[in-house]
Amino acid sequence: MINEYMSAKLNVNIDHVATIREARKTIEPSIITAAVICEQAGADGITVHIRGDRRHIQDRDIELLRDVVTTYLNVELATTEEMLKIAIETKPDAVSLVPEKPNEVTTEGGLDVVGNLSTVRAMVKKLRDAGIFVSAFVDPVHEQIETCQSIGIQQIELCTGEYAELTLGSKAAHGEGAMRAAQEVKRIHDAAVHAHGLGLKVAAGHGLTYRNVGALAAISEITEFNIGHNIISRSVFTGLYKAVEEMIEKIRVVQ
Ligand code: PXP
Repeated sequence: MINEYMSAKLNVNIDHVATIREARKTIEPSIITAAVICEQAGADGITVHIRGDRRHIQDRDIELLRDVVTTYLNVELATTEEMLKIAIETKPDAVSLVPEKPNEVTTEGGLDVVGNLSTVRAMVKKLRDAGIFVSAFVDPVHEQIETCQSIGIQQIELCTGEYAELTLGSKAAHGEGAMRAAQEVKRIHDAAVHAHGLGLKVAAGHGLTYRNVGALAAISEITEFNIGHNIISRSVFTGLYKAVEEMIEKIRVVQ
């Protein structure tokens, strides 16, 4: 279905504000100020990823954000006992389960829920028992989506990494590049419709930009975007408030 009447929510991922701070192991830029500015600019929520190696977001950030964020706090984390403890202690509005490899530059694809069924199922149960809304970051693959639904996951976040890769630079401007990007949009669309039909909420994210988000914003089953690197990158030049406003404008479809 094409989204003509309403727009999806935007959660701004502010990990890379912490990346700059951690580059000097200092106190600035403040992740708390960043969260407040994002909210003031109209963001519907704040997303952060606390990694096992703590390369950007730290435990204390999650505690402070829990106190400060008034919209919606979504914390991405891996399916480990350490992360489960952090989630249960800080109680974000939502937890997004993601795969994590120690040396990856960023998350590489969705969580293999099918291949890690017992671990994921146990984590989902504990999170839900603690009253936390559970999302899982998965590739647009029907089997993964169906398995998420069968173990009580409430939302899937479709990994848009492959689409993002296909739209980098001038790749999707014409010819085969444009065709492959269109095919990937269709794959994401089909997955979103399938998940929605199973009663799951549908989010999307990874590698999305001001240039490529429009095609996905038109898919009405997708009700939430998690976007970070591109917004924080633009904010270096425009300021964070304006960068967030401009992304909201790109997600908003013709009313
Ligand atoms: N969604 C998930 C599950 C992620 O892991 C990330 C990256 O942390 C994002 C969305 C945001 O990706 P980007 O920074 O490329 O916008």
